[in-house]
Amino acid sequence: MGRVAFTHVSKRFGDTVAVDDLTLQIADAEFFVLLGPSGCGKSTALRMVAGLEDPSDGLIEIGDRVVNRIEPKDRDVAMVFQSYALYPHLTVRRNIEFPLRTRDVDRKTRKELVGKAADALGLGTLLDRKPAQLSGGQRQRVALARAIVRRPAVFLMDEPLSNLDAQLRVQTRSELVSLQRDLETTVLYVTHDQVEAMTMGHRIAVMSNGVLQQVGVPQEVYDKPASRFVAQFIGTPPMNVFRVENRTDLVGVRPEDLTIDPDGPWPATVFLVESLGHERHVHCHTPSGDDVVVRQAGMTVSPEAGAEVHLNAAAGAVHHFDAETGLRNDGA
Ligand SMILES: Nc1ncnc2c1ncn2[C@@H]1O[C@H](COP(=O)(O)OP(=O)(O)OP(=O)(O)O)[C@@H](O)[C@H]1O
Ligand SMILES: [Mg+2]
Repeated sequence: MGRVAFTHVSKRFGDTVAVDDLTLQIADAEFFVLLGPSGCGKSTALRMVAGLEDPSDGLIEIGDRVVNRIEPKDRDVAMVFQSYALYPHLTVRRNIEFPLRTRDVDRKTRKELVGKAADALGLGTLLDRKPAQLSGGQRQRVALARAIVRRPAVFLMDEPLSNLDAQLRVQTRSELVSLQRDLETTVLYVTHDQVEAMTMGHRIAVMSNGVLQQVGVPQEVYDKPASRFVAQFIGTPPMNVFRVENRTDLVGVRPEDLTIDPDGPWPATVFLVESLGHERHVHCHTPSGDDVVVRQAGMTVSPEAGAEVHLNAAAGAVHHFDAETGLRNDGA
């Protein structure tokens, strides 16, 4: 089965701690996303599952085996990278069946498995082409087909969509989600794109500087971020965090929850109004010197730059974070 577990896993490269004491369990058939900014240790965590890096400390399990000492090829995982190197001189069919040939799978079975993988990814009519005759999105699908063809217990995907343009990324995102649902295989998916994480993950884990910040279903992480870091990493524009009079901690309100209201408790000065057509972003300074954004529907009449306003938010939409540690403070 495709369960994956990290138990107190660390990875050091000289003085750099790439992954710091990571403990995390991924369930069989789960679509699990590791999310965080560049350099936070996502790829390193994934590469340790693949066996491409050895942990400095801790245990990694796949299924019911500890795999620390097991060769990458014997781990029953398939990895898809951002740069999906296809063999340029081989046809799509030969590229997809490559992992089967290296495992001496017989010709008839190969044909059947390649057919299934190609169908699952809509590549059935392209099998005789060479990679150079494909679009970027088609090439990425060939790389995915090559990964699924031998039905591993776990797929490891490292930013597999980042080379695609915005439109193709959205399309491939939903294809990946339905593919995973059909195959019922565990996916461990790495990205720095919070929209990918929110839309694809059954659960997501947010990392910063090698340290796990929070694990949960996407909505839970969005609604109840464990720290200021998570609050501001997920959501666009990010959550506003600002100091208010008579409080020592920091108040956090998402732009869509912040309203301009003459009876609101927080004074602010508008300095910029951006229109995105369907919505407007009203940028304001607060007396504490923080910048905040109010997100308004496109139809709303917005104040002008320079206007003195008051801001408000429903009690349930106000978060509090410790000024020192940045941790969520629910007792406030
Ligand atoms: N082989 C290596 N030797 C030395 N340092 C490394 C090595 N691999 C990664 N690191 C360092 O470990 C940290 C984590 O790197 P990692 O590649 O895991 O980050 P990432 O979250 O995948 O970032 P990105 O989003 O940019 O791909 C970084 O500080 C990186 O410089
Ligand atoms: Mg990476």
